[in-house]
Amino acid sequence: MKMKYLNYVLCAAVCTVTTMSCGDSIPTYLDEEAPIEERVEDALSRMTLDEKIDMIHAQSKFSSKGVPRLGIPENWLSDGPFGVREENLWSKWGKAGWTNDACTALPTLTALAATWNPDLSLLYGTVLGEEARYRNKNVILGPGVNIFRTPLNGRNFEYMGEDPYLASIMVVPYIKGVQKSKVAACVKHFALNNQEANRSKINVVVNDRALHEIYLPAFKTAVKEGGVWSVMGAYNRYRGQFCCHNEYLLNDILKGEWEFDGVVISDWGGTEETMQAVTNGLDLEFGTGTDGMTVDSGDPYDSYFLADPYKKLIQDGVVGMEELDDKVRRVLRLVFRTTMAKDRPYGSFVSEEHFRACRDIAQEGVVLLKNEDSLLPVAKGDHKRILVVGDNAARTLSNAGGSSMLKPKYESLTLDAIKEYVDGASEVTYLRGYQAYMPGYEPDDTERLRQEAVEAAKKADLVIYVGGMNRWAYQDCEGRDRQNYELPFQQDALIDELLDANPQTILVLHGGTAFSMPWREKAKAIIYAMYGGSENGHVLSDVIFGEVNPSGKLPFTIAESLTDYPPHALGTYDPTNKGDVNYDEGIFVGYRWFDEKGIDVPYPFGYGLSYTDFEVGKAKLSSKRIRPGRSLKIRVPVTNSGNRRGAEVVQLYVKDVQSSLPRPEKELKAFQKVWLEPGETKYVEMLLTKEAFMFYDPEKQDWVAEKGEFELMIGTSSRDICETIRLDLISRGEKRPSCIKVMSYNIRYDNPNDGENCWENRKEATLKMIDELRPDVFGVQEALAHQVRYIEENSPEYASVGVGRDDGKEAGEFMSIFYDRSKIRLDDWGTIWLSQTPEKPSMGWDAWCPRTATWAEMEIIETGQKFFYVNTHLDHGGRNSRRNALDLIIATIKEKNQEGCPTILTGDFNVSPDNDFTLESLRTFMYNAAETASHADTVATSNAFGKREGKHIDYIWWKGFRTCKEYRVVRKEYSGIKYVSDHWPITAEFIVP
Ligand code: BGC
Repeated sequence: MKMKYLNYVLCAAVCTVTTMSCGDSIPTYLDEEAPIEERVEDALSRMTLDEKIDMIHAQSKFSSKGVPRLGIPENWLSDGPFGVREENLWSKWGKAGWTNDACTALPTLTALAATWNPDLSLLYGTVLGEEARYRNKNVILGPGVNIFRTPLNGRNFEYMGEDPYLASIMVVPYIKGVQKSKVAACVKHFALNNQEANRSKINVVVNDRALHEIYLPAFKTAVKEGGVWSVMGAYNRYRGQFCCHNEYLLNDILKGEWEFDGVVISDWGGTEETMQAVTNGLDLEFGTGTDGMTVDSGDPYDSYFLADPYKKLIQDGVVGMEELDDKVRRVLRLVFRTTMAKDRPYGSFVSEEHFRACRDIAQEGVVLLKNEDSLLPVAKGDHKRILVVGDNAARTLSNAGGSSMLKPKYESLTLDAIKEYVDGASEVTYLRGYQAYMPGYEPDDTERLRQEAVEAAKKADLVIYVGGMNRWAYQDCEGRDRQNYELPFQQDALIDELLDANPQTILVLHGGTAFSMPWREKAKAIIYAMYGGSENGHVLSDVIFGEVNPSGKLPFTIAESLTDYPPHALGTYDPTNKGDVNYDEGIFVGYRWFDEKGIDVPYPFGYGLSYTDFEVGKAKLSSKRIRPGRSLKIRVPVTNSGNRRGAEVVQLYVKDVQSSLPRPEKELKAFQKVWLEPGETKYVEMLLTKEAFMFYDPEKQDWVAEKGEFELMIGTSSRDICETIRLDLISRGEKRPSCIKVMSYNIRYDNPNDGENCWENRKEATLKMIDELRPDVFGVQEALAHQVRYIEENSPEYASVGVGRDDGKEAGEFMSIFYDRSKIRLDDWGTIWLSQTPEKPSMGWDAWCPRTATWAEMEIIETGQKFFYVNTHLDHGGRNSRRNALDLIIATIKEKNQEGCPTILTGDFNVSPDNDFTLESLRTFMYNAAETASHADTVATSNAFGKREGKHIDYIWWKGFRTCKEYRVVRKEYSGIKYVSDHWPITAEFIVP
């Protein structure tokens, strides 16, 4: 039935436009299997000028036209960014009054950023995408990633904080989550929209470094890594041009440098003139208020800048079709990516899973600022009388804030959630304490409400204060900035008196920005609650009563006073200014500024407590030197030393010690959140790529990494640094050829009778040695399965391939090749079997252990260099088997060496009375193997070769690598490891051609 209808529609659409008969195959643009670009070109070629013009501007407040004649649907957009907004009237701001559009309200984006958990960002985007799809929207107007520059910005709560790296990491999964549902995310507001005061008038003056290092990175990652399908321009001007049609931002950077192929959508009413809108990168115009809007006859949207005025320019020959076709192509691409995409899912709305996701996200976004005397968490029933005070305890918060306001299906209130949790175990009373009001409309009962609350607090056993900001105008709300840094509604006086009246007062403060906390020294417990969306109340009660251990970290700095923040310290913020706004602080925004000026702050960026304690151990680096183009791995052990499950966020900041331009004291370049059970230790791993060391050079108009010294700071906030490590960046000129470090290692002992050599005694030392030598690849001989497993589990960056007897109690059963997963890729591996040989010796080594070697075909990920690795063990055993073993290894090298792969051979030999090896025969074997390999330049062995007759000889042999950079025999450096040979383990570095 459905199919029939579809066929009918397609056929009807096509037959009306083309000369094609209904029996013909479907046109390319309708063919879901055809590549998008072909569909775009085909559709474009069928469109008239009017249809093209119609497609690039709004037809209502939130929709734009498709091409009905061709069966191309309309675009339906919606705010964004925390949920799918309720339906708006067609042409006016106002609620449409639908009864089926109440959504899941997700936490605000500062709350999401405070989780420091990219997985939750993916979950967030997934929920949002599913809800948007269900509501038939194909563009969701979010996420917002403008940087927190002043705490007064009314829209900080819609963004992801003050740090470009944090915002960059968190924005990508959000986009991917949304777009999975074939709904476009729309990253906004591009760019430099950092205040609401006179947002449609001001012209931002910022230097190139700050533009590229602070204000653009999150947009760039949204495009380059998130693959976002649409971008919204900002209201403000930059370089004198409005950002919705700004040549430098849109044409040069976004579409030029970043190769963005999606749609640039104007902010609502952000288009200001036709010619620039035509030429400077705008694709889709929305929200323009024109005279035409009040005219009843005709289509008022025809008077949009990109409607009739544009058409006239084309008809008059002032501009050609090139720009128009580019815009239409982009809008068509959007359509084929969303509404006309193959396998477009159906989405889902206000499902249980969505509310669960909302709760999970909000829980990790709560930041515990202070907790003295372990006032938190509160044990159920421990307090007879609980007094809840504060307007926010009994107010929904998601249904305000400007364009991000939502109509949630429900929003749990904190007061209700507390009562629900306590369930009669304490007596819970509530007093408002203050009343929210708009500036200038102070209610006359402020004093009375305060007195009432303070008196009641004296009699309570515990006071839970739920206040802070709300989402009304002049608070966390679009369109206007805050008027001061203090909490609104005279809360400071109330909080101060409450704390005097009852020190057992927990402060729960909502907000999406920083505010002053003059009473903070007096307070024992402060929770920064952000805005939790639909599950706000439940989440706060979960945190208060310890059902959830807070793990959020501030995505912005809370400074003592407003004048601590750069625009206010420098006097460049003036809400009445309609002209140039000078970002004189340059790159010193947020913690970069506070560090630079040495300003103490109460709650730094990255800060947040837990109900448990953590110990961050010593970090291990994959190298102390790094050259441009290489990456660096950092492993840090974290232990939960308290008695509750909890999460810590390990943060890695980089400082450029020697630089030709001023650089910040520290910049966040990696982080990792880790959940730990009490007593548990886990290693977090962070990767630094070359970007982490770079700055934007305004002279070169490019990113550069200068050689010299850097510092890596590992901490739990931007001001709690546990360890600082120095590092050298080697310049391109001094570029080292890529190196591969090989180790040969024999584990052997597993018997308690082996005394100090037994595995129990050696295993920690083994790990330590591996950590210090950090080989890229290493062969292990004579290991037992559990020993190999132990290394793998405790050095998770290494993977192994290996062979062994399954039953094995005997040493020698495992020969393993370990490799660093981030550096080496395994293509194939296998085993060389002795017992598959035609001769079947009755005794000896091959009967005891029929595998003689493990081989692996590997690749160095960064360079793509392939190599072949053999790890062998040739020990006691019968004469025949021994000769066989050598022959087999050579045969395998021969076979695998067809493509001229460099070969590495590691292992251990024993020249002993019970085999027929002599040093001479082994030497012959080595040279034979060398002849076999097709790259005949270097052969080398351990310097033990020839000297240790009658003992084990560990060796590394290589073939085809240009030269051995460094050859090291590691002796007795690792306490707890002794071995019969003092040439063990051996490591060597090879230069890869
Ligand atoms: C806001 C945008 C929003 C749009 C549509 C504008 O005022 O700046 O963020 O998406 O309205 O509501």
